[in-house]
Amino acid sequence: MTDKVNESRRNLLVGTSVVGVVGAVFAAVPFIKSWMPSERAKSAGGPVEANISKLELGQKIQVMWRGQPIFLVKRDKNQLNTLEGLASKLKDPSSESSIQPEFAKNLHRSKKEELLVLVGICTHLGCSPKFYPEIVPQAFDADWKSGFYCPCHNSKFDISGRVFSGSPAGTNLVVPPYVFVDDENLIIGMDKLEGEA
Ligand code: FES
Repeated sequence: MTDKVNESRRNLLVGTSVVGVVGAVFAAVPFIKSWMPSERAKSAGGPVEANISKLELGQKIQVMWRGQPIFLVKRDKNQLNTLEGLASKLKDPSSESSIQPEFAKNLHRSKKEELLVLVGICTHLGCSPKFYPEIVPQAFDADWKSGFYCPCHNSKFDISGRVFSGSPAGTNLVVPPYVFVDDENLIIGMDKLEGEA
């Protein structure tokens, strides 16, 4: 009996200290550079950190958030310059019917012009689109201007994740909430740091 009481008490103390640590981590978010969510936060679908210090122009890296691939793409000027002229070929050029945070409802669909953050899941039936960064003719599009192509049923998206007319996907690729901790780190899954207005 006494052993049981001691065990319950020990569990309570351990649980309390874990909550304390998690609370401290969240409170420290605005002030530290290497913010790492706990395994428990990750499995519960909490925010995840992405480091883009090694991401080069034209490249894509991927992290997982809530079991979904998140694409981070650093676009170069040539890629960004394609965006303006594509409106007439797109289903939702101004992202009116698509999902993104308010800060990403713009031409480049992002907070910082060059960095694109997208949920890497096709808005048709959930395949993962492939990244085709080069502005060169492709077998699926002779006038390809860089972006994403979903081979499952031929949906095409530009380099902002906007869907082309004629694709079975109905809306643009989703932009998740995210916030920058500094120039090289961002947190996916929250759109402002603690204490930010
Ligand atoms: S799942 Fe991408 S086009 Fe159908």
